[in-house]
Amino acid sequence: MSASEQLEILEEPPFILENGVKYINPTEVKMSQFILPCHANHCGELSVGQLLKWMDTTACLSAERHAHCPCVTASMDDIDFDFEQRLSVGHVVNIKAKVNRAFNTSLEVGISITSEDPCSGRQWKVCNAFATFVAKGQGSGKVQLKAVIPRTSQEKIEYSIAAERRRMRLHHLESIKDLVSSSTIQKEPDFDESQHVVPAEKTRVETVELVLPPHANHQRNSFGGQIMAWMESAATISASRFCKGHPVLKTIDMFHFRGPSQVGDRITLKAIVNNAFKESFEVGVCAEAYHQEGWDQKTHINSAFMTFVVPDKGGKLCTFPRVKPEPGDGKRRYREASARKKIRLDRKYIISCKQTEVPLSVPWDPSNQVYLSYNNVSALKILAAKQNWVLNCMQNKAKLSTLEEDHLLFFKAEMIVSVNVKQVFVLLSDMSRRHEWDTHYQRFKLIQKVDTDDVIYHVVSPSVNKASNFQDFVLLASRRVPCADGDPYLIALRSVSLPAVPPTKDLDRGEVSCAGFTLCQEGVTSTKIAYYIQTTPQVLPYITRDITGLSSDLCKIIEALNKFLEQNKDTVHMCDIG
Ligand code: COA
Ligand code: ADP
Repeated sequence: MSASEQLEILEEPPFILENGVKYINPTEVKMSQFILPCHANHCGELSVGQLLKWMDTTACLSAERHAHCPCVTASMDDIDFDFEQRLSVGHVVNIKAKVNRAFNTSLEVGISITSEDPCSGRQWKVCNAFATFVAKGQGSGKVQLKAVIPRTSQEKIEYSIAAERRRMRLHHLESIKDLVSSSTIQKEPDFDESQHVVPAEKTRVETVELVLPPHANHQRNSFGGQIMAWMESAATISASRFCKGHPVLKTIDMFHFRGPSQVGDRITLKAIVNNAFKESFEVGVCAEAYHQEGWDQKTHINSAFMTFVVPDKGGKLCTFPRVKPEPGDGKRRYREASARKKIRLDRKYIISCKQTEVPLSVPWDPSNQVYLSYNNVSALKILAAKQNWVLNCMQNKAKLSTLEEDHLLFFKAEMIVSVNVKQVFVLLSDMSRRHEWDTHYQRFKLIQKVDTDDVIYHVVSPSVNKASNFQDFVLLASRRVPCADGDPYLIALRSVSLPAVPPTKDLDRGEVSCAGFTLCQEGVTSTKIAYYIQTTPQVLPYITRDITGLSSDLCKIIEALNKFLEQNKDTVHMCDIG
């Protein structure tokens, strides 16, 4: 086997506890399954529905290990599959799940899936996923879950970012719906009769399943994995009707379980191709439950959108004819599918990339705001969780540290101020006042107040090299209050680009990929402020001059910041926190 064939699966180094014992996360559940013909489709490849069932079962057991009571699937985040890595009969699928964080009644489980060919020893990564479960105790009362205590550095990062993923799930389910529906302003699709088009109705699937005891837990609630598997199956039939070939699932948008279903319910599944793009197409599927008590009463259980591709034998993607939507809902779904395609691309580009691979100054627009805001905050959380900082010097009671990693230089300044953390948060997150203490912020203009937590602004700074132009930056500032006690307050900054603020000749456009403040309460009246920045060529000279003692700029800024916070703390109204 060549080295390139053996895809490395990186395991975290073992974490050894104080008593010398290797730490194993108490919620970790592992499942390994041989892919047998009964799990595969007619091409001998693992059906994604079966994989979803195994993922849901493993994750649910992990959730219940933490909750100590039955849990139901509330959602499964978007999943991207690597369709080039096939999972065939004879391969082994390894699923690992652990609880990242518990909130009130819900908890997030991280799931990682790898596969192996036991004959060759080859192993490869399939995908990662995040599922949310809600604890269901006896009776109708809510279950307050105990907190997760992360131990390893990776667990601490997942714990911290889980709060951000939850925010994205909850706040943006509705806003994504708004974005999709607002895209219907576009022109009606028009079809030239000479073009080859496939009428959408030819791809329609309507099917029914009866929920039997093997599909449900001991409380008779159907397993989320089973519902997802039925939905995937209906969608795949619709996809096959459209492509007249063997469709391969590439992406699943978030599954959200709106309501439960029980043993004895009939689940109807309806699927249709909503739109086809050049080399992929979207199938929508809707699951409804007809309950035993009244056959005419149905509950909407779930709706999902799946993107399929059809690779030929050489792996090249086939191209598709256009879809002719049905009048009414069909036309609306056709346009909404285009909007979802854009949102999916933004998501993949901004979220799934490694932080260092996300390009600087991503063009901002309302449809990628949710992902940029997530990226902004999670990048700062990851930076704040980094270890092995090297203390360079102390200036004005502030500790200045640096960290070199992957050819990047990160900088951290930490100080304690005698001001309450909420007051510091309000004062520092008001970017229009930063010029009062930071000489780098010479001119400030608010470009857009995106929502209560995010603003985009333009700032002009003097250049470190007096001979050159002034610099300007277009920054997205995202602020967060703690999700739970012990979390820091946070203000994250990153560059974005906006057509309304193009670079100009008289200013050098600078970029910030990741910067911001974390604020931790230290007693009632003191706050530990940490400022982080990942250096870019434009900010590097400022930082290296200060940490090598060639400049006292930073010292003056720290002094000014202290004074600014002291003088203004009593002007802060707690309602400003929002
Ligand atoms: N994704 C993730 N979590 C979600 C969510 C979503 N789309 N919608 C709600 N939640 C979380 C909330 O954040 C809350 O968590 P918290 O207590 O930790 O803050 C928890 O669910 C309960 O929210 P609440 O608003 O009180 O309840 P709800 O009325 O919205 O009900 C479910 C949420 C998931 C319990 C409910 O929709 C349900 O029973 N769905 C079916 C679950 C099921 O049976 N699944 C198996 C297959 S059908
Ligand atoms: P929306 O219509 O906003 O997309 P729904 O929850 O009604 O949301 O449906 C989700 C998807 O399920 C639709 O986009 C469509 O692809 C599919 N679907 C819904 N109803 C039907 C139906 N009667 N026949 C076939 N497919 C359907």
